[in-house]
Amino acid sequence: MDKYKDELVETALALCAPGRGILASDESTGTVGKRLEAVGLQNTADNRRDFRSLFYTAPGIGQYFAGAIMFHETLYQSTDGKGQEQTPFVDVLVKQQDMLPGIKMDRGLKPLPNAPGETFTEGLDGLADRARQYYEAGARFAKWRAVIKIEPQLGLPSERAIEECAHGLAMYAATCQAHGLMPMVEPEILIDGAHHIATSAHVAERVIHHVYASLHRYNVLLEATLLKPQMIMPGMSCETRSSSEEIAMFTLRTMRRVVPPAVPGIMFLSGGQSEEEATINLNTMNSLAHSGLREWRAPWSLSFSYGRALQSSVLSLWKGDPAKVEDAQRLAVEVARVNSLATLGKYQG
Ligand code: 13P
Repeated sequence: MDKYKDELVETALALCAPGRGILASDESTGTVGKRLEAVGLQNTADNRRDFRSLFYTAPGIGQYFAGAIMFHETLYQSTDGKGQEQTPFVDVLVKQQDMLPGIKMDRGLKPLPNAPGETFTEGLDGLADRARQYYEAGARFAKWRAVIKIEPQLGLPSERAIEECAHGLAMYAATCQAHGLMPMVEPEILIDGAHHIATSAHVAERVIHHVYASLHRYNVLLEATLLKPQMIMPGMSCETRSSSEEIAMFTLRTMRRVVPPAVPGIMFLSGGQSEEEATINLNTMNSLAHSGLREWRAPWSLSFSYGRALQSSVLSLWKGDPAKVEDAQRLAVEVARVNSLATLGKYQG
């Protein structure tokens, strides 16, 4: 890791620079296929490439995005070129948009044995070799998603699911740092369920606390990591809905309790929130963090690494129509811009 130490820290700082966030465009082939099929497009390599290309080549989008997370296939793809020379996506990001390429390192979720309803993340086998290859291909940061489900009646999350999540994230983070990839640490706590916001906060505290204990045991350099958590919110089917202020307060309180100040940035996922909600909640959090009140002070950047909340409306506008590319790109830049404002607490709705 020593060989890459300075570079890793610089990567982490660049990715959470004020006013910039991360585009999570790393849906697996199956998941992006579902999104494409929902707007009537087939799940072909060309359609996947065109969808990615729309974002990566949108004029000016790099002002608001410091990086993009990619799936294996996308990291090696190029622009269509339309009969002209094709440009590798990595070059588009780095040279045209001043963005850093990132790579999804996990291989998805599998049922956790003897733990009904819970999952663990696959992908530790061969991780070092893949990290080396991806660095050579131009990736500079990585992501690994672990998923925790809340279901209090069934005692979920179990202690074992939390341990598995923390262990996987720590092994991954240590391995990535050894090979020059700055690890984003993603313990996603699903918003499915009817639980109250206080339950989400309690579970998140438990999970994130375990994750940092594990990162410590694996000697992960925290200055060269970013956290990618869910915001603290009530379960999707909970009857008591929370205001943006309540979500911001619970989220900040939780993060202040368990995320060390050595971590430079917290890059939230959108996790099923609408585009508008994700922007407003991030903005409220930053307004609070910048309010000067001691109890809400945040030692880390609070930014975004959204997938659906940056792409959904753009995909619905584009629907694969070449005549709509420019409009869709303008919309992509606008969605990125408002989230950039939200990282500064300056979004006005
Ligand atoms: P969403 O913002 O759509 O939740 O996706 C972010 C992500 O990268 C999940 O792993």
